[in-house]
Amino acid sequence: EKGEYRHYMLKEIFEQPVALQRTLEGRLGSVADLDGLFSKNADLLERVRFIQIIACGTSYHAGMIARYWLEALAGVPCQVEVASEFRYRTHVVPEGTLFVTISQSGETADTLAALRATNSPNYVGRLAVCNVDSSSLVRESELVLLTRAGPEIGVASTKAFTTQLAALKMLVLAMARVRGVDEATIQAQLDELRQLPGLIQQVLLLDDEIEKLAEQFVEKNHTLFLGRGTQYPVAMEGALKLKEISYIHAEAYPAGELKHGPLALVDKEMPVVAVAPNDELLEKLKSNLQEVRARGGELFIFADGDAALENEDGMTVLNMPAVPECLIPIVYTVPLQLLSYHVAVMRGTDVDQPRNLAKSVTVE
Ligand code: M6R
Repeated sequence: EKGEYRHYMLKEIFEQPVALQRTLEGRLGSVADLDGLFSKNADLLERVRFIQIIACGTSYHAGMIARYWLEALAGVPCQVEVASEFRYRTHVVPEGTLFVTISQSGETADTLAALRATNSPNYVGRLAVCNVDSSSLVRESELVLLTRAGPEIGVASTKAFTTQLAALKMLVLAMARVRGVDEATIQAQLDELRQLPGLIQQVLLLDDEIEKLAEQFVEKNHTLFLGRGTQYPVAMEGALKLKEISYIHAEAYPAGELKHGPLALVDKEMPVVAVAPNDELLEKLKSNLQEVRARGGELFIFADGDAALENEDGMTVLNMPAVPECLIPIVYTVPLQLLSYHVAVMRGTDVDQPRNLAKSVTVE
């Protein structure tokens, strides 16, 4: 039930600290064994040389973030593709490929079809990262990592996404251990993961401020979302949320691509949303933001307090708490969820059941 909340989506956004706590519970011990996944399948996981991630929509964005983590931390090459493309193209399966599907429902037709077509001997195993224990995807995969977000009713995926990221982060750390990454690095990230529910709680306190910000989007027809590194998929997720529930056209770009085309669109009628945590790409991002300002674009930036970005003409900055690097994409997703939510409510759309969409896409 929605209880005190006006919509399921809002309830589910606010449930994230609890959902994340449940996802992490019992899985952060020094073993990071993930419900026996690693102890029971040690041989199999040691044979992994390549990871192919397949998903759709929001779950695909989770996969894109996992790829940055997998390659940077565990040193495992990884590819991510939307299921509807992967299943219909002739592709090469490198030896030692772990096939990973990510899905909230576990019933998405294209994702299931891609799983069912994995018949190459080069696959070492099929792992489902899924929120529904009794789903087809879970039943048909020999390896399973449940996200434990609890039922998600709103069509726009929120807590399913952040719990997918937490689960994937643990998977990457466990994988890193198998690959011989030093224990101190792994422990440091496990410690940071423990701070996640509390950090999300802090971001939820920004709700009123974000609601105010939303007013400036209500009359707009187009928006651009920018990010770099793991924030590029975060920007994609922000854009998907906005278009899905508010019906405002939204596009996401890796900030470095601006001058390769989208900069031509920028004027004061198109708000540009940027995600600016204090990471190694901050300075690069800042110079991209200058490019937008110089062209009269209206910037809305979710920034780390230390990023030295301040409100100015044409630039509204919303300060985020300090976030450990490994949690940045998870934490910075939340203000974008709230932004879309409030814009949609102000535009009077059916937030939980947007037009033309279904919660689970069981047909192709
Ligand atoms: O159940 P799944 O995670 O497989 O669903 C995938 C997409 O249909 C889903 O994420 C969709 O993009 C959401 N409505 C986005 O909010």
